[in-house]
Amino acid sequence: MTRSPEEIDLEFVPLGRTGIRTSELQLGTWRFGRTTEAGNTEIDEARAHELLDAYEAAGGRYIDTADVYGGGASEEWIGDWLEERDRERYTIASKIYWQIRDGDPNSVGTNRKNIRHRVDALLDRLGTEYVDVLYIHRWDDETPARELMKTLNGLVESGTVHYLGASTMRPNAWKVARANAIARAEGWEPFTVLQPRYNLVDREIEGDYLEFARQRNLALCPWSPLGQGFLTGKYDRAEDLPEDSRVAESSRFRDSYLTAENFDLHDVLDDVADEVDASSAQVALAWLSHREGVTAPIVGARTVEQLTENLAAATLDLSDEQVERLTAAKAGPYDGL
Ligand SMILES: NC(=O)c1ccc[n+]([C@@H]2O[C@H](COP(=O)([O-])OP(=O)(O)OC[C@H]3O[C@@H](n4cnc5c(N)ncnc54)[C@H](OP(=O)(O)O)[C@@H]3O)[C@@H](O)[C@H]2O)c1
Repeated sequence: MTRSPEEIDLEFVPLGRTGIRTSELQLGTWRFGRTTEAGNTEIDEARAHELLDAYEAAGGRYIDTADVYGGGASEEWIGDWLEERDRERYTIASKIYWQIRDGDPNSVGTNRKNIRHRVDALLDRLGTEYVDVLYIHRWDDETPARELMKTLNGLVESGTVHYLGASTMRPNAWKVARANAIARAEGWEPFTVLQPRYNLVDREIEGDYLEFARQRNLALCPWSPLGQGFLTGKYDRAEDLPEDSRVAESSRFRDSYLTAENFDLHDVLDDVADEVDASSAQVALAWLSHREGVTAPIVGARTVEQLTENLAAATLDLSDEQVERLTAAKAGPYDGL
C-alpha cells in the first residue's frame, strides 16, 4: 500500500474530553537532532523540515516534541518551520522533566521553579506564545502533587498552555488519578492527555492504566507505536545483523525487542500484512488505532519514505478477527487475571 503524502488525507478525531481535535496520527520529533550512541545524528535540520512538509501534505496538524529532544533542536527546527505558517492551524505538544544542568537538583522534575523556567525557554525555541499541550515527561516523586497541579493550572489560566498531559507513568494510573482529584477539588485544570508507550509488543499499560483512560475519556497518544522499528519487519532472528543498525548500537533495544516471543508475534503480524496487502508497519499502526481507548498514535520516522508508509496506515481496515489474532499473539501483563 504505497501513496504519496498528498494522496493521504488524515482525519481529525476528538482529543479525549478536551474541546479540540487531533490528527488521527500525530508526528513524533524525538529523533530530530538526536545523536545516537555511535555519534550519528538521526535526523538533521533539512530532513526534519522535509518530514514536517510531508506530514503537512498528508493533512497532519499535530506535532509532538519535548524540550530535551536534540538538546532543544527539535523545538527550534519546528519553530523555524512554523515561522512561514499560520501557527493557529497546528497543535503543538511539548514536555518537560529531564535534567538540563549538571549538578543542579532543581533543574530536573516538576518543581515550580523548574516548570516556569522550562516553559519560558521552550516557548522561545518554538517562537510561539503558547503550547497546546504541556506534558510532564515523567512523574516526579520529589514534588508534591498539589504544587505541581497549582503551577500547571497557573499556566493554563495565563494562556501559556491550553491542556495538560502526563507522559509514561506506567502503570501508575493512580498518580494521575490522585493529581486530578486534587485539581478537581480545587477547581484547577486536570490532566486530560496521556502519552504512554504502547505497541503490539509493549503491552504494559493494558489493565488498570488503559481502563482508567477509557473510563475518564482521557486522550491516549501512544509513543513508539512500532517498537522503535522492530514491528516494521527489518529485523530477523539471525544473529549477524548489520553493524550500523539500531541493534548493534543499543543493547537495550536488542534485549527488549529481539526476543523469541516478539519474533513469534511478528510471524502473526506478517501473516495479517499478507492478507490485507499492507506492510507490517502499517498493520501494527492500524492495530493500535483499532484498540479501544487509543486516540492517536505518535508516528516516528527517520525518512520521508518511512513516514509516508506509516501515514498511509490511517486508511487500513482490519477485521475484528485480525485485530483479535494480533492481540492474542502476545498477552498483556494483566490479561486473564
Ligand atoms: N513520552 C515519551 O517518553 C516518549 C518516548 C519515546 C518517544 N516519544 C514520542 O513518540 C514518537 C515516536 O517514537 P519512536 O520514534 O520510538 O516511534 P516508532 O515508530 O516506534 O519508531 C520509529 C523508528 O522506527 C523506524 N521506522 C519507522 N517507520 C519505519 C518504516 N516504515 N520502515 C522501516 N523502519 C521504520 C525508524 O528507525 P530506523 O530507520 O533507524 O530503524 C524510526 O526512527 C517520538 O518521536 C516522540 O515524539 C515519547
